[in-house]
This record gives sequence, structure tokens and C-alpha cells, in this order.
Amino acid sequence: MANRQFPDEFLWGASTSAYQVEGAAYEDGKKASQQDFINKDSYEVFGFATAEIASDQYHHYKEDVAMMKEMGFTSYRFSIAWSRIFPDGIGEVNQKGVDYYHNLINELKAAGIEPIVTLYHYDCPMALVEKYGGWLDRQIVADFEQYARFVINEYKDDVRIWTTINEQSIIVQYWTQKCYIPEELLDGKHNQLRYQINHYMNLAHAIACDLVHELVPGGIVGAPLGYSCIYPLTSAPEDVMAMQNAQALRNDFYTDVYFKGEYNKGAMIYLQEHGLAPEMTDEDLELLKNHSKSDFLAINYYASECAKWCPDDGAKEISWSGVNRSGKKGEISGFETHPGFYEMCANPRLDTTDWDWAIDPQGMEYLLRDLYNRYNKPLIITENGLGAYDTLTEDGKVHDDYRIGYLRGHIAAIKRAIDKGVKVLGYNPWSSVDLLSTSNGVKKRYGLVYVDRTDDDPKECKRIRKDSFYWYQKVIASKGSDLD
Ligand code: BG6
Repeated sequence: MANRQFPDEFLWGASTSAYQVEGAAYEDGKKASQQDFINKDSYEVFGFATAEIASDQYHHYKEDVAMMKEMGFTSYRFSIAWSRIFPDGIGEVNQKGVDYYHNLINELKAAGIEPIVTLYHYDCPMALVEKYGGWLDRQIVADFEQYARFVINEYKDDVRIWTTINEQSIIVQYWTQKCYIPEELLDGKHNQLRYQINHYMNLAHAIACDLVHELVPGGIVGAPLGYSCIYPLTSAPEDVMAMQNAQALRNDFYTDVYFKGEYNKGAMIYLQEHGLAPEMTDEDLELLKNHSKSDFLAINYYASECAKWCPDDGAKEISWSGVNRSGKKGEISGFETHPGFYEMCANPRLDTTDWDWAIDPQGMEYLLRDLYNRYNKPLIITENGLGAYDTLTEDGKVHDDYRIGYLRGHIAAIKRAIDKGVKVLGYNPWSSVDLLSTSNGVKKRYGLVYVDRTDDDPKECKRIRKDSFYWYQKVIASKGSDLD
């Protein structure tokens, strides 16, 4: 019978990203990132909070780390804000920004918590966006390299595990939420740029892998990828084929580059046939093929996906994923569609969150086993969690049993994968404290710790332990054997 405990060295923690948690957007020398602008716009349009204060971790980091220690964390995955280190993207270093991350890392290490650092989480310095369009221009690769070299070198003595660029697959789907894209490129004629941005990110990822291997003794590096397993809607052969096509373009298109050093052929041919393929040089292909590859894959998994056949009969056009802005089930604005290849759809067999994300713990086991079998590389969970409306009760508690249920199911699924031989290094659910959602403000909460603020009013950002906090503490203390 399998041991109910996870391996001793398994890392238990949680995850956040800089612009979603830190706040202090213009403090101590930091200048704007594109997220400060994107979120200012979504405040004006949808009333969602801006990134200016977020969860104010910049001023609460000691308290937050103390709570991580209380829960028994052995890891914490966070990202570094490029424009806190280089306010203008390149050039002069902002020493106060550099010091902030040293302080955070020192606090973590003193608490026995291993930092897992992400180099880039959607927050390109606005100065580079204004200068040349940010990730729309190849120059970003060279500027990212100098930023990454500085950061990796600066923190190399304390940080062993590095992740590169957060969720390239999601950036392709939701390019306007994740990148500041000028209005004139949104006429439907410039969708090739989604894949061009991704190509520049692949180059940046390869360079960052090289840098970690060159600069960090014993360092390991991988990409944190938004990854969902994909099921066919029915067992009809055309739906199963659609599922395979979706798997190629939505998943293998990224992982093949990370581990084989080349683009998935079926996906690339589809993009070429539709004028969507990135422009690439021979040097680019050489860099992807022959330079350092990822040591592991970091998985951000929230929901599984479903695909069905879509005939190429002129009835539908190519489109990318929609979003649910209202937080009312069923109000998602659309599904990715590629006529003659596949169309994504809701899975009638799964319940969803209020934002239409399919809840599927079994999918976690499925994707871990599938990825490990195909690439034979360790995996680490860097995001997984339930976005939900939480209620702070009058006695100052948050009874989030729905979140406990979600996490329990996914942790059990990870254990089943480990018991079948998959190497999983750790579990870092989203998120350690409540933070700013990328698409729905602060009322969609993920944290183990409640942050007392609303979209309109940041108040004091007081921290309150949720029921899930105490439950996760017990899980970690029992090395995952007590999930009750
Ligand atoms: C992941 C991102 O895609 O999902 C996070 O890496 C994000 O930044 C998380 O917050 C949840 O998505 P959302 O839109 O609910 O915030």
C-alpha cells in the first residue's frame, strides 16, 4: 500500500506575483509597469481595483512571511517587479527595489522557507512599452537579458529555484490583459503578434535558462506554464481529433520548445497556413535548439478544458478565449475557435466556479502523468486554486470550506500521480494572501489569508486567517497525509 505521506523533501508553500500583491506601485523609486496602466483602465471600465495598493505586501511582507511560517511553509513562489529593479526597464538600478527583495528573501530564509523566484509575471516596465511597444519588439529580448542577468546574479546566493516567464500560453490567449497593446493593433488583422510575442518570450526563456546554469551553482530553472489538460466533448472521432489539435496548439506548442527545443510541427503548420506564425531567424532556431533547456516544468493548473470539432464551412471565424467579467456562471464571453482544427467548449460533466472555470481535480493527476511520461522532467505546482467570493463574518472569520474542498481534491490527485512514479517537487497554490485578480478585481479571492479591502477601498489591508489557513497548516504538518 502506498505511504500516505508525501516525500520528506516535497516543498509545501503558496504563490503570488509582484503587481498583484505588492502595491507600492510608485514608491521608493519604482516606476510604472504595463499592469499599472492596464489595471487603471479596468478600474475605469469595470470598477476593479488598480494595482496601486493591491494587497500592500510591500509594507506587510514581514507579517505575511510570519503567517507562512505559522502555516509551516517550506517554499514561497513570488515574482520580481522588473520596474522596481530597473524603473526605466534598462539603465540605472534602483537600489531600494533591490533591497526590498533582499529583505523579503532574508525574511523567508530565516523562517526556513525556500524562495522560488519568477523573473517575469506580466509586468513589463511601461518605459519599454512607450519606447518600442514592449514585447511587440525584438529589442525586448536583449533588455530582458540584461535585467535577468542582473537579478539572477544579485540573488544567486539565496535563490536556487528560478522560473522564467509566467504563462506564455495565457499571454497568447489574453494578450490585451497581459500586455499593453495599442488600440490600432486590435482591428483583428494583427493576431500574428500574439505568436510573435510568444516567440520573443521563448528566446528570453532560453537565455534565462542559460543564465541560471551559468551563474547559480546548483541552480535549477523552468517556465511557469498555464496548463490545462484537454478532453474531447464526445467520443466521436472528429471530437477526439479536435482534442489532439487543441493539445498541439494550446499545450505542446509551449512544452515542446521548453524540452525539445523546437516548435510542435502540427501547430506550427496550422499557424503558417493561417498567417499567424511568428517570424524567426536561423539564429533564433539555433538558440532554442542548442542552448540550455528547462530542468523542470512549473505548472499553473486551475481548470481542465474541453474541445469539439469545428467545421471550416465559413460559419465561424478564428477567435481566442473569452472571459467572464461578471462573476455570474454562464456569462463567459466566448471560447477559442479555429475552424477546421478545433473549438473549445464547456464540459457538461464538470461544475464550474462563478467565473466559469471547470473544477476538475482528476485533471491534475491526468496532466502530471501525461507530462512526466512524455518529457521525463520533474514538475512543480506553482499555481492552483479556487477564485471565489468570500464572506468575512461578524466574528472576523472566513469559512471557506469550498476552497478547502478544492485544494483537498487537487492535493490528493498529486499524491496519486506521485504514487504512479511521477516526480513532483512541490505544491504552491494560488495564493498565499488574497490579491488582485488578473481579470476580476479583488472580490474574486484565492488566498489562504483574507485581505480586508474592496475594489473601491483599500482600507488597511488587514490580514485575517481563513479556515483554509488552519486546514493547510494541518496538511503540511502531516506531510499531506491528513487532508480531512
Ligand atoms: C494565472 C496567473 O493565470 O491565474 C495569475 O498566473 C492569476 O496571475 C491566476 O491571478 C488566476 O487568474 P485570475 O484572472 O482569476 O486572477
